Amino acid sequence: MKTHSVKDDQYARAMGHLLVLYTQVDQFIMEACAERIASAPGRDAKMGLAKQVGDECRHVTIQLGWIQKFGVDTAPVVGQQAIEQLHDHFRTLDWVDFLTDLYLVVEALGSHAVEQVVPLADPGTRESLRVPLQDELDHVAFGLYELQKALDGMDVLQRQSRLDRIPERISVIINMLDGFNVPVLDWFEQVGASSEQLCAILDRRKDELVTSLAA
Ligand SMILES: [Fe+2]
Ligand SMILES: [Fe+2]
Repeated sequence: MKTHSVKDDQYARAMGHLLVLYTQVDQFIMEACAERIASAPGRDAKMGLAKQVGDECRHVTIQLGWIQKFGVDTAPVVGQQAIEQLHDHFRTLDWVDFLTDLYLVVEALGSHAVEQVVPLADPGTRESLRVPLQDELDHVAFGLYELQKALDGMDVLQRQSRLDRIPERISVIINMLDGFNVPVLDWFEQVGASSEQLCAILDRRKDELVTSLAA
């Protein structure tokens, strides 16, 4: 598999945008989790969110440091209005929907997409993703555990209706992200990934996650 060099202009530009996007998403998650701590049900959930806030803060610091060294365009790729729209969306959600949207979509599918880029990345970028991607596994595990716990606390009908709504929730949030018109698939292509393959991989991952929750 071809690993890119930072001297390849198209690669560096696209990877720079992907890194800025990842950093913006991490910062968003940090803020969304921080806002949820007070209302989260139970000490484990509060502690998990608080730990994640610290982790995401570390990821933002690592990524900003690398982006600076990488010498790429540091301009935000998601506008402030879109970030505000995302915050507004998450603020309206109850705990179960918050877990679904944040952990199934943003954390699990988002970090799975970033993982696909790692083998194509230059050594510096790969190193900058090592710690964050390791932590994302913990975050996904925490979110799925809390989601499972919340679902298990419901009666059978309620639980089933929440489970039935999950695929639709995933589509709604993916459509919202699409609506931000960030050409993320083009950037994936420009760093050497196949967008078709990437979408198929994410689709499979989504099905696995939904099936594991229903089990
Ligand atoms: Fe992160
Ligand atoms: Fe995370």
